Amino acid sequence: MKETQAVIQRVKQINDTHQHVVLAVDESLSTIKQGQSLLARESESWHPYLREHWWPVVSGKNSITVERPTASRYVPGQVINVLGLVGQPFRFRRTLRTVLLLAYDTPPTPLLMTIPWLLGNNIAVTMVLLGSATEYKTEHLPPELEVVLGEVKVEPDSTDFQWPSRVTTVGWADQVFVAVAQDNEAHRFSRVLQMFGDLRNDVPKNYLFGVFRPTLPCGVGACYACMIPTKDAQTLICTDGPALDLTLVKL
Ligand code: FES
Repeated sequence: MKETQAVIQRVKQINDTHQHVVLAVDESLSTIKQGQSLLARESESWHPYLREHWWPVVSGKNSITVERPTASRYVPGQVINVLGLVGQPFRFRRTLRTVLLLAYDTPPTPLLMTIPWLLGNNIAVTMVLLGSATEYKTEHLPPELEVVLGEVKVEPDSTDFQWPSRVTTVGWADQVFVAVAQDNEAHRFSRVLQMFGDLRNDVPKNYLFGVFRPTLPCGVGACYACMIPTKDAQTLICTDGPALDLTLVKL
């Protein structure tokens, strides 16, 4: 974990709601892997607000492209104060043929960096967008990615997720990574876990991962604000997350 400066090189709008911001970064950040992220502060001077959590979608030699909402404005040459790398890479299985990415009521941004890497390793990827995630337009994503739009029916005691070939998709995936809206992650992840439990006889370990995105005040494991209770311990998302095996989390 290191505090450095990044410089915005280019900004490109990629759909109605999001833009890609290319950052020139130092070598320590260009080793970023799928699942890791940055804490960014646009101003060099001190201010009382927490850093923003920025998710990479592409990394290259001394550059990282992050995806940001179009509501935020950036200009080439702008200097960003960056703390990183935050978290651990996603733990993909050694033998992996198929991956399901699932975004529920949130843009799929935290999951996107996996796609070129998985496809480049001949791993088939399907991305299911549920609820308000369907508003995220995907034309800029690789054509080999299968994108499926689904819907969510929320009842007081249950949540019904529906998408075409749902049972097949769930049975087909070797691993699943899920991002949900941040307003109530535990509740939403528990609904997702329940659906997988209903569709499979058993939800094995190392299969279904929630990508947790709590507020990260420090990002270095010092404040304990990002602690998530798990079966054997308490897990800090900023140091051991963001992806946790949902069968091991106390939801
Ligand atoms: S953000 Fe402070 S311990 Fe994780």
